[in-house]
Amino acid sequence: DHSIKIAPSILSADFANFGGEIAAIEAQGADWVHVDVMDGHFVPNLTFGPPLVKAIRKHVTTFMDVHLMIAPVDPYIDAFAEAGSDMITAHVEAGPHIHRTLQAIRAADCKAGVSLNPGTPLESIAHVLDLVDMVLIMTVNPGFGGQKFIPSQIDKVRRLRAMIGDRPIHIQIDGGMTPQTAPMVVEAGADVLVAGSAVFMGGSVDSPGVYGENIAAL
Ligand code: DX5
Ligand code: ZN
Repeated sequence: DHSIKIAPSILSADFANFGGEIAAIEAQGADWVHVDVMDGHFVPNLTFGPPLVKAIRKHVTTFMDVHLMIAPVDPYIDAFAEAGSDMITAHVEAGPHIHRTLQAIRAADCKAGVSLNPGTPLESIAHVLDLVDMVLIMTVNPGFGGQKFIPSQIDKVRRLRAMIGDRPIHIQIDGGMTPQTAPMVVEAGADVLVAGSAVFMGGSVDSPGVYGENIAAL
């Protein structure tokens, strides 16, 4: 399946109405639902823990993609798996044993993703490509929605695509995706685009058609 997937980040949704927001984006063409977990330590912001992810899960009919921006990761893997994550993505910078972390994610029956901050070289994940279903290249410094795309990451995506070769591994991009930046990373080899502000801007559960137009524009 070579189609491009759009994964709206509910970081830009109305936090008081996740059920309605998820139903709206799924009805409007979202392929996955991207959940940004932040701990105020690995990144300078706080969002959701496992109980909230579990509550969100009841509303997701597509695929729940859980992006952990937390350190350490390992003590929380089982809780996020039991909360209903389909995929759990951990940052290579979050600890000294990413290989162990990815094995634990798969042992918990979830798809496994590994993520790199903009400043982290690709070589840091060369040894785990046989343990992952997805590599997430961050195109902003993680922590907040609505930041500007960092163009130096385009070449990293291109080199990652070559490094992956024939392996069935998704390349996900997160941060600053717009109708202008999305084609650049797709051309370089990305196939899953996370977008927060570009999906939710201008719309609401009362005017969900805007979400559809925003997804279509991406
Ligand atoms: C950033 C998060 C992103 C964020 C993207 O730390 O991982 O998923 O919500 O937001 P936009 O699309 O607005 O850059
Ligand atoms: Zn994210």
